[in-house]
Amino acid sequence: MSQRYDFYNLIHKGLRLGAARLLARIGSLDTADGDAAAALIADLRDFLALASSHLVHEDREINGLLRRHAPDVAAALDTDHADHQETFAALERLIAGLESAPPAQRAAALRTLYLRFTTYVADDMLHMAREEEVALPVFHAHFTDAELAAAEARIIATIPPEKLMRYLRLMLPAAPPQDRIAFLRDLKAGAPPEAFSAILDQAARPSLAPKDWSQLCREFAVAA
Ligand SMILES: [Fe+2]
Repeated sequence: MSQRYDFYNLIHKGLRLGAARLLARIGSLDTADGDAAAALIADLRDFLALASSHLVHEDREINGLLRRHAPDVAAALDTDHADHQETFAALERLIAGLESAPPAQRAAALRTLYLRFTTYVADDMLHMAREEEVALPVFHAHFTDAELAAAEARIIATIPPEKLMRYLRLMLPAAPPQDRIAFLRDLKAGAPPEAFSAILDQAARPSLAPKDWSQLCREFAVAA
């Protein structure tokens, strides 16, 4: 793996993990269980909102840097992003259709939503791999790690704290422990102590397996 700065790695792993979990949950939903359906729909909407904002973040701070050095790659990513934003609108219409479907039609509405979500996930897996396999080497050829870290820091600075927590709850469990700890150390270095405590309490604790949370408590000297 590259030792160079990789602003795609952790957020893309988080998006892949979130998508995979939702695929499993949508596929196994009992449409007669209204509470489970409502919880799943809320989580799906939350995930799609984060995925959509992620594209906007890349459009604003990442893809513009690429355009000067690899215009064809940048154009392909722009097309993918535009397609995905249309897909998010289509998925929202299918979610609303599921919510309003009478009981006899819920299974059919769920199947339609499930299959549309599977094709979005397939497209997005290809898209994110293209970013990491094709775009990232261009960034590494033309920018320093400090410039790439600054672009990511500009993105993080624009995300409201509550939304950042939602991203972190996807990202932190998706990384191996050493990457998770290194990422959190960087966040700690740039955040006021109370903001970092909130990240541990509201993002790390609820999203991590007990042994991973215990490891963070030892690493950052907080009470379990
Ligand atoms: Fe992208």
